[in-house]
Amino acid sequence: MDKPLLEATGFRKAFDGVPALRDGQFTLQPGSVHALCGGNGAGKSTFLKILMGIHRRDGGTLLRDGKAVTFASPSEALANGISIIEQELSPVPAMTVAENIYLGREPVGAFGRIRFKEMNEKA
Ligand SMILES: Nc1ncnc2c1ncn2[C@@H]1O[C@H](COP(=O)(O)OP(=O)(O)OP(=O)(O)O)[C@@H](O)[C@H]1O
Ligand SMILES: [Mg+2]
Repeated sequence: MDKPLLEATGFRKAFDGVPALRDGQFTLQPGSVHALCGGNGAGKSTFLKILMGIHRRDGGTLLRDGKAVTFASPSEALANGISIIEQELSPVPAMTVAENIYLGREPVGAFGRIRFKEMNEKA
């Protein structure tokens, strides 16, 4: 099997002493798709927010391509190829689907011009 793209183990997070997530685990292999299911308040968003650098975890380890990492901000997570699309969708209505997907990280060419053709193809 290929080396996992992402491997989370033992993720823990509490808010004001109240546990929101215990022993969160996830292994992502290249080319795979997962669904994360659970009841309201099960800790799904908390888990993803830790992956995305929105929340700081209280415990656990995260390996990106086998290297231990901690993302202190969403921009750090993005720089490592991790992005999140929130449950409460808030796309920019005046923009295309591709523009929404690449918002803030558009492929740019000479003089900082957005490469729309490349962006549309990748989307
Ligand atoms: N910022 C926060 N401050 C305090 N408690 C929080 C915070 N975020 C989440 N919680 C609590 O942590 C627990 C897990 O919440 P989380 O949002 O991760 O669940 P979820 O699985 O995404 O639920 P849903 O299906 O409703 O989206 C819940 O009890 C929730 O009330
Ligand atoms: Mg949620």
